[in-house]
Amino acid sequence: MKADAPLLFLDSGIGGLSILGPTRALLPNAPVVYCADNAAFPYGTRSEAEIAARVPALLGRLVERFRPRLAVIACNTASTIALDHVRAALDVPVVGTVPAIKPAGERSKSRVIGVLGTEATVRQPYVDRLAEKFAADCKVVRHGSARLVELAERRLSGDQVDKAEVVAAAQPLFDLAREIDTVVLSCTHFPLLADWLEEAHPNVDFIDGGEGIARRIAYLTKGQSWPDTASQGVAVFTAPPPEGIRPALARFGLTDIKPL
Ligand code: DGL
Repeated sequence: MKADAPLLFLDSGIGGLSILGPTRALLPNAPVVYCADNAAFPYGTRSEAEIAARVPALLGRLVERFRPRLAVIACNTASTIALDHVRAALDVPVVGTVPAIKPAGERSKSRVIGVLGTEATVRQPYVDRLAEKFAADCKVVRHGSARLVELAERRLSGDQVDKAEVVAAAQPLFDLAREIDTVVLSCTHFPLLADWLEEAHPNVDFIDGGEGIARRIAYLTKGQSWPDTASQGVAVFTAPPPEGIRPALARFGLTDIKPL
């Protein structure tokens, strides 16, 4: 494995930064290519067929161009729909991002868990299977919100975003069951709003998969060689990037912005 072979991250937008952040904390010298498929943003309102066709094809192009050592689908929507298709199509290891229902099942005291994702993610059989396997004795309620995705995207792009609007967009989940004590943030955009959600619901434990995925990436690349110093990451956009996104990307080490 060449030391400069990057880790490749893919999301529809900037949500995957919530996976890149903990990964950089564990592997600071890892070269990174982060692709935001903003030409197709948002994924969460698209059909299964669209996602299942688009994501493997796009990842195939990215793998050919950047020759990564490993690809990370930093998106719950794409992972719960297309992970198997992607693994079948690519010849590099692929790490997916699926709702962290396992730790939620371990931690919940009330045994009522909320799954907050995109509309596409919350209807996936993949989520049914996770709930059956890891939270069989829990009531698992779900809410999908395209609005929260949009608000996260705007917040990171430096727009004025109203905290109350974020809290209101998540409220339908809490209206489904008052006893929710654990919420699985099942869209990678949502950890970017977690501070506001936690402030509004101080007794609720908000869980996301970012750190677990970072550990998985570190495990799968253990023993491989890396550059001696931290390298600057590349951000690739499939359409012109949102205005004002540069400072947020730079905070995650992504200073070189390129079209695909
Ligand atoms: N960040 C993505 C996810 O984890 C997708 C958001 C969207 O494009 O709808 O599901």
